[in-house]
Amino acid sequence: MATFKITRVNTTPFEGQKPGTSGLRKKVKVFIQPNYLQNFVQATFNALGADRVKNAILVVSGDGRYYSKDAIHIITKMAAANGVRRVWIGQNGLLSTPAVSAVVRERVGADGSKATGAFILTASHNPGGPHEDFGIKYNMENGGPAPEGITNKIYENTTTIKEYLIAEGLPDVDISTTGVSSFEGPEGKFDVDVFDSTSDYLKLLKSIFDFPSVQNLLSCPKFSFCYDALHGVAGVHAKRIFVEELGANESSLVNCVPKEDFGGGHPDPNLTYAKELVARMGLSKAHSEPNPPEFGAAADGDGDRNMVLGKRFFVTPSDSVAIIAANAVQAIPYFSGGLKGVARSMPTSAALDVVAKHLNLKFFEVPTGWKFFGNLMDAGMCSICGEESFGTGSDHIREKDGIWAVLAWLSILAYKNKDNLGEGNLVTVEDIIRQHWVTYGRHYYTRYDYENVNADGAKELMAHLVKLQSSIDEVNKVIKEIRSDVSNVVHADEFEYKDPIDGSVSKHQGIRYLFEDGSRLVFRLSGTGSEGATIRLYIEQYEKDSSKIGRDSQEALAPLVEVALKLSKMQEYTGRSAPTVIT
Ligand code: G6P
Ligand code: ZN
Repeated sequence: MATFKITRVNTTPFEGQKPGTSGLRKKVKVFIQPNYLQNFVQATFNALGADRVKNAILVVSGDGRYYSKDAIHIITKMAAANGVRRVWIGQNGLLSTPAVSAVVRERVGADGSKATGAFILTASHNPGGPHEDFGIKYNMENGGPAPEGITNKIYENTTTIKEYLIAEGLPDVDISTTGVSSFEGPEGKFDVDVFDSTSDYLKLLKSIFDFPSVQNLLSCPKFSFCYDALHGVAGVHAKRIFVEELGANESSLVNCVPKEDFGGGHPDPNLTYAKELVARMGLSKAHSEPNPPEFGAAADGDGDRNMVLGKRFFVTPSDSVAIIAANAVQAIPYFSGGLKGVARSMPTSAALDVVAKHLNLKFFEVPTGWKFFGNLMDAGMCSICGEESFGTGSDHIREKDGIWAVLAWLSILAYKNKDNLGEGNLVTVEDIIRQHWVTYGRHYYTRYDYENVNADGAKELMAHLVKLQSSIDEVNKVIKEIRSDVSNVVHADEFEYKDPIDGSVSKHQGIRYLFEDGSRLVFRLSGTGSEGATIRLYIEQYEKDSSKIGRDSQEALAPLVEVALKLSKMQEYTGRSAPTVIT
């Protein structure tokens, strides 16, 4: 058995190693500086403390972006030197973020023990490659991101770090083949276990969904399916789950081979970046597709986001979570006993609120960020949740889950079509959505993103909007001058949230203008951009009248958009006459 020694390496702090809830994200050229990653990893081990590190089992994997393999070898050697007992690595270092969460919660090692935490190597939907982004975040034993108490401590440690520990003599383990390699260090044995990336995740998904009924749908000649992983890690899981387990045709997978640079693309599943899928589904203006599939979906780089499309039809993420919640008990065995509650982030449309009310479910509106859902789930108060930013999930894990969302939709389609697979017409995605609108009303919804704008300009715009809130009468006067057909603002504030479990209060979570007719304008600054500031403007209008639910959403929302842009003086503060992305 190969042996290793522990070496203490002197180091000095780097500025700016403050992890957000999605971890530390920087350009690759920053991460590859000598000791940069090492400092962060040691700061994490020190923040976790001996209890959570000595003899621990640590998962280390990610979305396979550039620098992941080097990072895995470094972290493995540092784990060995810090007294970790075992490192679990998905084959080729690939595990989607939801798969990591599933592995932490579900995977049982040879001696019956479970993982204590995970390093996830990803920068999510940001591009990858030598000139793009890399990222690392730590998840706890519940499978969810480290809470602020820990991330603050990590940051503090990065500012004072003097040395890190690394195993000398430990070889780079071959992560391309599964199996356990054992080593002997000064404190005893150390194992590296490379395991199949999908088995544990698949086992969990099989305990949630009725796979045979989804398989029947996928094999029905009238149904067709398409999945685009944008060259992210979800492709690995998709091949195994959709093709090998559920019998979908191999040709239904697009961009499902993970690439270190995501094929040069932007691995974010929206109408702008998922170009190939959008064209295949008949939604591209530039290209006409004679016979699009019935159902299409895309994932982001680390597989936690999802975009769902029907034939020539876009499903807003806000509608998606509402429809999953409305149908879950009937269509998904895991929920057959009822839902504990549902939740959405504040800027997500109120479509879910209406479902919660109809079904008499507990309902929560939380700030943007998945961690707020995690608390509710740990307390048994929430089963299904979602965000407008293409995130949907449930309490089966503590991350959002792109493939779960696709299986939820396929389950609903299978349920609605259980008598139509032979003769008769299939109920389509569009049918399901339109029927939902008839029952619950429609929330017209759009988001305008102004990316990489001047940070001072963005701050001034937000300050201007807050200032306006002190006089609603004044605001209404301005609005009437812009568009007399827009209803009055009845309430305006900055969203604030008190966590019902730990009592913590989160302030300044977005500026809201709420209108008499239920319409809403929300402005917030993105927390995930890496250059300049990104302003997000969310526009929503509720329509109950079933004769008015079939309009084009941009057209229906045009008056509110005009009000939002003029009220906020968008062009004045940002110099932009149009948004970068509209979804
Ligand atoms: C990440 C989080 C999501 C959140 C999103 C917001 O993806 O995991 O929970 O909705 O960031 O991003 P933004 O850029 O709008 O702050
Ligand atoms: Zn992601």
